[in-house]
Amino acid sequence: MNILSAEALEVSYDDTVVLKGLYLRFERPEIVSLIGSNGSGKSTILKSIGRLLRPGKGTVLLNGRDIHSLPAAQVARMLSVLPQGPQAPDDLTVRDLVSYGRTPHRRIFGKGDEDDEAVIRWALRETSMESLAGRQVHTLSGGERQRAWIAMALAQKTELLLLDEPTTFLDIHHQFEIMELLQRLNRKYRIMVIMVLHDLNHAARFSHRVIAVKGGCVVRDGSPGEVITEETLGEVFGIRARILSVGDSACAGSIVCIPYGVCR
Ligand SMILES: Nc1ncnc2c1ncn2[C@@H]1O[C@H](COP(=O)(O)OP(=O)(O)OP(=O)(O)O)[C@@H](O)[C@H]1O
Ligand SMILES: [Mg+2]
Repeated sequence: MNILSAEALEVSYDDTVVLKGLYLRFERPEIVSLIGSNGSGKSTILKSIGRLLRPGKGTVLLNGRDIHSLPAAQVARMLSVLPQGPQAPDDLTVRDLVSYGRTPHRRIFGKGDEDDEAVIRWALRETSMESLAGRQVHTLSGGERQRAWIAMALAQKTELLLLDEPTTFLDIHHQFEIMELLQRLNRKYRIMVIMVLHDLNHAARFSHRVIAVKGGCVVRDGSPGEVITEETLGEVFGIRARILSVGDSACAGSIVCIPYGVCR
């Protein structure tokens, strides 16, 4: 199992410090959700721990080694990152995009083998994208495009999946499809999922651990029940909400958040 940690992480854009001495540790194959308001630093955290951004200070360790000291392809075989709002060239088809997920597993100039083909088909099937495989990515609807990118991240076949708002733009059916897929990958293959979510009810229902971020700092880190509380939602989002426990058998153990206003 890959262990990922951030030690004393500091990230600035120009002169503005966005993350200030952040410590995080991910050592179990859990589903972890980062929650927090717009601009609080969630994507910056995800990009930093996913090697897309080099921190000004501090280190990100993957299995105890500085992630920036490891070759990009080696990291890409262990960890895949779906950033927020990714862009694909206009003429790229869904199939081409998903096959890029196999690049770290190929030799230089290598073509895909049968295993690659099987993984690509699996990723397309899991995201319900098979019938759209021949379409150009730029012609897809927002939700279809999002699923194409998720398929690419899946095709990388890593033990660690970092996803920035994977369900944004998806209808409720496809939101659940993706969340249940992540749950299945976690249960069946012990894949660690670290994702940014705005939907607090999804975070509550599908995560083992929730990290609430404010102003680039972690304000709460624990189980959904420990973090998604009326007090924390007031502090982190400035909203007033009721948190209810759901007792019926279909969604036993879940908590549900009902926001009803902003804090004044
Ligand atoms: N490339 C950049 N250049 C300058 N400032 C940036 C850049 N990227 C992010 N920021 C700033 O850093 C802060 C954190 O941004 P980040 O994207 O991490 O927030 P977020 O929590 O992911 O927000 P959202 O929920 O809107 O996606 C914000 O104030 C943002 O304006
Ligand atoms: Mg973001």
